Amino acid sequence: MTFTDIKAYFQANRGSAAGLPWPDAQPLTPAERRAVRTSLQTFQRGEGTGGDHLMDLARQYAVPDYAAAMQLFIEEEEGHAAMLGRFMDQQGIPQLQTHWLHEVFRTLGLPLGLEHMARVILTAEVVAAVYYRALAAATG
Ligand SMILES: [Fe+2]
Repeated sequence: MTFTDIKAYFQANRGSAAGLPWPDAQPLTPAERRAVRTSLQTFQRGEGTGGDHLMDLARQYAVPDYAAAMQLFIEEEEGHAAMLGRFMDQQGIPQLQTHWLHEVFRTLGLPLGLEHMARVILTAEVVAAVYYRALAAATG
């Protein structure tokens, strides 16, 4: 798989959430809200981390379509933050402006090179994959 393939994947994946049935979302029960509120707030804040530093590093990596794929990845993550935010708004869960974990990731990432930044992001994505499955299992 090349970065051109990855770029094509992200381009094809754009808009894949456009058909989500937002009006049909059922409200969380009080018990569900208590169980998922804090983690939703943390993940929503973390999904939208921006990506200026990452893009600066990616542009220095002289591989075809690498920076373009990275830009699309960042945009997809921003889309995840927006979807989570919309869901939280719908459920009456306030969005956080900042969170200590978000600040730790941002601060630790600044002196890191591209490879270490990619490892940090990959770790977060692996945690998120498990988290979203657990979230689906824990709620209606
Ligand atoms: Fe994400």
